[in-house]
Amino acid sequence: MAQPWEPWHVSRGLRCISCGALHGLRDVIYRCGACGDLLDVVYRRPGETGAALAARFRVRQVSDLAIDRSGVWRFREMLPFYDDESQIITYPEGNTPLLDAPRCAQYAGLRRLRFKHLGFNPTGSFKDYGMVAGVTQARILGMRAVACASTGNTSASLAAYATRAGMLPIVLVPETGVSFAKLSQSLDYGALTIMVRGDFDQAQALLRRLAPRLGIYILNSVNPFRLEGQKTVMFELMEQLGWRAPDRIVVPGGNLGNSSSFGKALRELEDLGLLSKRPRLTIVQARGAAPLSEAYESGHSERLVRVHASTLATAIKIGAPVSWKKAARAVDWSDGWVTSVSEQEIADAKAMIGRDGIGCEPASATTLAALRRLASEGTDERVDPDETVVAILTGNVLKDPDYTVRYHQSALFEEHRSETKIIESGSPLASAFANPPVIVDATESALADAIEARMHSR
Ligand code: F0G
Repeated sequence: MAQPWEPWHVSRGLRCISCGALHGLRDVIYRCGACGDLLDVVYRRPGETGAALAARFRVRQVSDLAIDRSGVWRFREMLPFYDDESQIITYPEGNTPLLDAPRCAQYAGLRRLRFKHLGFNPTGSFKDYGMVAGVTQARILGMRAVACASTGNTSASLAAYATRAGMLPIVLVPETGVSFAKLSQSLDYGALTIMVRGDFDQAQALLRRLAPRLGIYILNSVNPFRLEGQKTVMFELMEQLGWRAPDRIVVPGGNLGNSSSFGKALRELEDLGLLSKRPRLTIVQARGAAPLSEAYESGHSERLVRVHASTLATAIKIGAPVSWKKAARAVDWSDGWVTSVSEQEIADAKAMIGRDGIGCEPASATTLAALRRLASEGTDERVDPDETVVAILTGNVLKDPDYTVRYHQSALFEEHRSETKIIESGSPLASAFANPPVIVDATESALADAIEARMHSR
C-alpha cells in the first residue's frame, strides 16, 4: 500500500500534489505554476480532533444558524479557507440520506447494501456539496462571472449557486447528449448556456484556454475549492455510520473529482482519529468512458491514456478526466480498485435501484452494476458478501427521465441519442426489468382488467 500523503501544512495555501510547491490561497490558479500538476487546498491541522471535533459537528444539527444547518459548513473546521463566516454562501445543501436497499443487496449478492443518495440536494445532484465551496471562494476573490464545462449536473449547480450569489453563471455543455432536465435547470437559473459543437473534453479544454483572458473563474472540479466542499460527503457519511467506517465505498467516476475529494476527506479523518479503518474506494466508470479503469487493468495506473468517450450515462461521458491523479492517489492509499461496467449492466442496475423505491440517474447505477459483478467474480478484486458496503448515488432519478422511460418501454439503444433527435442506431439493450406503462380504453372494464392483471401477477 502506498504511503499516506501529508494532509496538513504550516500555513494555508494551494499545494501541488507532485512537486509540493506552495501557492497563495487567493491566487487565481488551477494548476501548479512550477510543474503544472493539480493543487490541493491545505491548512494547518485543526486544534480539535477525535471525539471533541465529532461532538462539535453533531451539536450543530440542532442549531438555527444557516451555516450550521448546511451539510457542508457544519464541518467547517475541515475547510477553513474563508477568513470570516460572513463570506460563506449556503443554499442549504447536503444532509442527504443513507438508504437501505434490500432488493439491490440481493441483486448484488451482498448481505446488506446502503446507498448514500446525493441526489437529495437542492439541484438534484452531488455537485451542490462542492459548488457551494467553489462559489464561496469566487465571492471571496471578488469574481463577477464563473464558468464550467459540463455534462449537465455541474452546470445546473453552478447556475443556481452563482445566480443566488449575484454572479453571472456561464455554462458550456455538449450540443448533444445533455438531458433536457439538466439543460432546463441552467436555462431557468439564468445561466448563459452555450452549447458547444463538440464533446465535454473539448469544452473543458476551450474554457481552460479562454478563462484567464476573459477574467472568468473556472468552477470545474479542477478547481481545488470545489473538492473541499465535496469532502463533506465523507464526513456526513461517517457521522451517519457512528464513525464506524464501512469496508468499501463505491462511487461512479467521470472527471474524477468526487472520488478525489473522498480520498482527501478520508485521509484527513484518519489523521484526526476519526476513521476506524480505511474503506476501500472502488471507482466505477462506464465501459465506453473508462480511461482510469483501463489504466488499472493494464497495470499502469501511473499513466492515463485518454479515450473517445461513448456511453448513455451521459453524466460520465468523459474521456480525459482532469483529476485522475488525485483519484489514483485515493485508490492506492485505500487499497481500492477502479473498474468499468457495460451499458446493459448499468441499465439493469438502474431499474433495480428503482425497484427499491429509490431511483437514480444512469451514472449512479454503475455502482450497483459493479458490485454485482465484483461479488460474483473469483478475482483479487472480489467483493465479499459480508462486507459493509456503501454505494454513492450521485444524481436524482428525475435528471434523465428519457433514459428511464425508454428502458421501461424496451426502447433503449446503445448509442446515438440526442435531445433534438433520437437516432435509433446501435444495438438495442434488453430491458429485463421493464415496467412499461399500460394503455387502456377509457372504460371501467378495461381499467379493471389492467389493474387485476397486475394484482394477480404479484
Ligand atoms: N454522477 C453524476 C450524476 C455526474 O453528473 C457526474 C459528473 C459523475 C457521476 C462523475 O463525477 O466527475 O466527479 O467523477 N458530472 C460532471 C458534470 C462531469 O459536468 O456534471 P466526477
